[in-house]
Formats: sequence, structure tokens, C-alpha cells
Amino acid sequence: MARIISVINNKGGTGKTTTTLNLGTALSKLKYKVLLIDFDSQSNLTSALGISKVENHVGKLLLKDAKIDETVINLNHLSVIPSTNYLLDYEYRINNEPGREFLLKETLDPIQSKYDYILIDCAPSLGTFAINSLVAANYYIVPMQAENFAFIGLDKIIQITDKVKKRMNPKIEMGGILFVKFSARTKFGKAVVKSLSTNDRFRHKVFDTRIRTDISLMESTAFGQNIYDYAPRSRGAEDYLNLAKELLKKHGKN
Ligand SMILES: Nc1ncnc2c1ncn2[C@@H]1O[C@H](COP(=O)(O)OP(=O)(O)OP(=O)(O)O)[C@@H](O)[C@H]1O
Ligand SMILES: [Mg+2]
Repeated sequence: MARIISVINNKGGTGKTTTTLNLGTALSKLKYKVLLIDFDSQSNLTSALGISKVENHVGKLLLKDAKIDETVINLNHLSVIPSTNYLLDYEYRINNEPGREFLLKETLDPIQSKYDYILIDCAPSLGTFAINSLVAANYYIVPMQAENFAFIGLDKIIQITDKVKKRMNPKIEMGGILFVKFSARTKFGKAVVKSLSTNDRFRHKVFDTRIRTDISLMESTAFGQNIYDYAPRSRGAEDYLNLAKELLKKHGKN
């Protein structure tokens, strides 16, 4: 069975898409079978994978307007369920479906055994799609910037996941908090690391691997490429490979 991971943060621009793309690619480089799901109407993951024309997408799939094998796009190294700008129209329809929170889980159940890892790129929201991702997932990863010492915003995500765990998916666990666009050399970066070491609530939840600020990461997605094709020797490539290894060590498939 696949390990399903929701990459989630209701705040925008924290690195969800960059992380889904490059962590997924790093896992595929390590020979795991990976499926990525673009669950955001901005469709940034779909474009970052170089896919410009989308016929079927995650919205149609959830409503059974499309079959799974007509929707999954198989690229060289991994597979993807794409999104579309029209996804919000589908969210409206999905909101009127009975058991709406379970649609993604229901869709993934029959294909789980085909993959080792399924990564879900959520939109910056904690709406129906985000809940669907948490109901289907084994773990959730929260990419965030180390821009404050208080982990502002995390409480809301934890509150929601606690409810999902209690009511709909007892197996969901936090996979970890991931610092993205991190600069360890700055005075601020050092202060964050120091303050974190004394934060008993979140200390053990933060990935040791931090994704450093790297312009190549920004450029690669804009050019529709993953970091390993665009700049294999970059810091970003190194950091996401280390993240994949840390993930495998902590939450990997046996
Ligand atoms: N480590 C990094 N160094 C430099 N730029 C980065 C890094 N990670 C992400 N970025 C850039 O930051 C911006 C936001 O990243 P990304 O799109 O991954 O965030 P997101 O959480 O998916 O955003 P949204 O909430 O809009 O979906 C993008 O322009 C991306 O290229
Ligand atoms: Mg995104």
C-alpha cells in the first residue's frame, strides 16, 4: 500500500508545490513509484511538471466524470493527477455530494497498491479539498517559513487534523514541519534554530532537513521543470534529496 502524504498549509506561498514536486521527484530518483496529485485550482504543480493541456483532472475524477486511467498522466519518472483552473467549479459541486470528505480516499483506494508514495499538493485553504487530502492521507507535511518563533498558523492546521483524526481518519499523523526558504547563516536563521531547540511542543516535529533559499528552485518551477532536471547540482536538489532520505528513515515503507 502506498504511503499517502498531504502537503498542506492554509497560508499561501509557503512552498507546498515546490516541495510536492521536488520531494516526489527525489523519491522517484531513489526508485520509488510516485504519484503526485495537484489539488489546487491554481494548477501550479501541473504547469511545473510541464503539462499544458489537461483533458481530465482531479475534479472530474472525484465526481466520477472521468475514470482513473483516463486521468493519470504517466511521465518518465512519476505519475500525476493534474488540476485545472476550473477546479473551483467542481469544489462547489463536490460540496453537495453526500460523504464529500471521502471522495479522494474512495478514488485512491483501488490504485494505492500501484505506488509507493502518493503526494498531494493542497491549495492554500482548509476547505473541502484539504479535508479530502487529510482523510485519504497517512501523514501530513507542513511547509512553512521560519519567519516567526511562534509557529503562527499551525494551531489551526493541528485543530483541523485532530478533528479529522477523531471523526474520519484515525491513522493520520503529522509527518513533520518543514522549513522552506531557510537561511541558516543569517542572524535570524540562527535565532530561529536556537529558539526551536527549547520549544517542547514542536521541537520533535520539525524536519532536521531545511530547504535553503535557492533561486534555482524558483526558476525551475517557472520553466516547467523539477530541480533535478533544471539544476542537479543546486542546493535545492541536495536539500530535497536529504528530505526524501529523512522521510524514508522516519516514515518510510518497510
Ligand atoms: N527554497 C526556495 N528558495 C527560493 N524560492 C523558493 C523556495 N521554495 C519556493 N520558492 C518560491 O516561492 C514561491 C512560493 O512557492 P510555492 O509555489 O511552492 O508555494 P505554495 O505554498 O505552493 O504556494 P500557494 O499557496 O500559492 O499554492 C514560488 O515562487 C517558489 O518558486
Ligand atoms: Mg501551490
